[in-house]
Amino acid sequence: MPEAQAPNVAGTVPDVPRHVAIIMDGNGRWAAARGLPRVEGHRRGVEALRRTVRAAGEMGIRCLTIFSFSSENWQRPASEVRDLMGLLRLFIRKDLAELHSNGVCVRVIGERDNLDPDIRRLLDEAEQLTCGNANLLLVVAFNYGARDEIARAVRRIARDVASGAVQPEGITEEMIGQHLDAPDIADPDLIIRTSGEQRLSNFLLWQAAYSELVFSPVYWPDFDRATLEAAIEEYRRRERRFGGLAAKTGS
Ligand code: IPE
Ligand code: IPE
Ligand code: MG
Repeated sequence: MPEAQAPNVAGTVPDVPRHVAIIMDGNGRWAAARGLPRVEGHRRGVEALRRTVRAAGEMGIRCLTIFSFSSENWQRPASEVRDLMGLLRLFIRKDLAELHSNGVCVRVIGERDNLDPDIRRLLDEAEQLTCGNANLLLVVAFNYGARDEIARAVRRIARDVASGAVQPEGITEEMIGQHLDAPDIADPDLIIRTSGEQRLSNFLLWQAAYSELVFSPVYWPDFDRATLEAAIEEYRRRERRFGGLAAKTGS
């Protein structure tokens, strides 16, 4: 159920953003604050994810993108990487049927080639099973890095230039967007990062050009519908201008 790209029009924001993206951060600190191992924070993070997907659907959000594993997260200790891969496997095996019955369409962005074949299969299966659903689009950014995504897009365009199919002068912003991992999905209206960190950490760098950013101090395992509503409340107070003039002074 890909969404057509909404036009960039200056003015007030609608009540509920169509596309919300979340950098789910703070699992490790949540665990450390309780004297628990980091993996316990990740486990509780999966529960927060379940709550959030449910709340997003109920609130009328059309698309939810979640940053679940970055291309830089391989730098973590092997045991933590194993735990995170295990939780992804478990999430897909345990939750896929329920997501499907709730009409959630799952899409995955990120580099898939260097993943374990069984994880690749699970991701493919999740997409294939749910591609006809239309209640909520859940985009899972897994082994995702925006610079890697852009580099892969550029490589594909370069091949077309080398073959003569595209002239260098013919490369446009739209063409670059069309070669990213999910060209049919509109840019996020709102990006939320939990845990108090205020950076993008290589998330959706191209797509975030005009997204509103909201930083929540809450650690991801504590995230719930109320925190999501608070972030959307803040989003509603913003005025998106896309380089134009404020609605009050424009026109
Ligand atoms: C987010 O929590 C989960 C992933 C990045 C996979 P962290 O594991 O980054 O938790 P902190 O930031 O160390 O608290
Ligand atoms: C970003 O969080 C990646 C995910 C939430 C999956 P990190 O915890 O990896 O980011 P940094 O290292 O603090 O920037
Ligand atoms: Mg972190």
